[in-house]
Amino acid sequence: MRTPIVAGNWKMNLGRSQAQELASGLRETAGKEKGVEVILCPSYTLLHVVHDAVQGSSVALGAQNLFWEEKGAYTGEVSASMLLDSGCSHVIIGHSERRQYFGETDASVRRRLVSALEAGLIPIVCVGETLEEREEGSTELVIERQISGALERFKPEDAAKIIIAYEPVWAIGTGRTATPVMAQEVHRMIRNWMAKTFGDDVAEGVRILYGGSMKPGSAAELMAQPDIDGGLIGGASLKVDDFTAIIQAAR
Ligand code: PGA
Repeated sequence: MRTPIVAGNWKMNLGRSQAQELASGLRETAGKEKGVEVILCPSYTLLHVVHDAVQGSSVALGAQNLFWEEKGAYTGEVSASMLLDSGCSHVIIGHSERRQYFGETDASVRRRLVSALEAGLIPIVCVGETLEEREEGSTELVIERQISGALERFKPEDAAKIIIAYEPVWAIGTGRTATPVMAQEVHRMIRNWMAKTFGDDVAEGVRILYGGSMKPGSAAELMAQPDIDGGLIGGASLKVDDFTAIIQAAR
């Protein structure tokens, strides 16, 4: 049995007091749910606030990105060890917004993954096709290229530590969710690729999250699919009630 994960990707939202309020609210609700791993991923500037708010509860802290070098003259960047030092256990890598606006590639995703794993952070690596790619029938090809570009040649024991998030780009922040059948199809394909590349044990254990306009109303049906092990939630993670309802659906 894979323990489901519900991760909140706050993106570039919230100030200090809102973050404090949201994290404390979630500590009260999410912190009491058993059988679901809950991760909050605020922006760098809010890591300390959220860390303090959830400390001592079961809610985990994650960042939205990292840079692969350990330290040095890299103005504006944050390393894996800095994230650990701020209380993070997880880090999102290769989100489609990073690929779209900040030139992230499969090769740079891979370098970030390596540095996260070396530091002992658990990476949540994101993959997903654009609407154009889906419409021209190349979804499978695109996902396989992203996943193999990021993970191929990893040792099975390292691959086993990674969380994967399938986020169709056309569903992110648009209110358009993939149907459970559509999402399941891609999740199955990812798990098959993991089995072929790293063996059945790794494939059976790896958690594959769905992301893209997941809301309280659509969460249960999506997460009931056999290969969907939780969600990476953007918009709906910014409200205590919505995020809590999604966590309850995962359980
Ligand atoms: P959304 O974002 O839930 O707002 O669509 C998901 C994500 O980008 O991780």
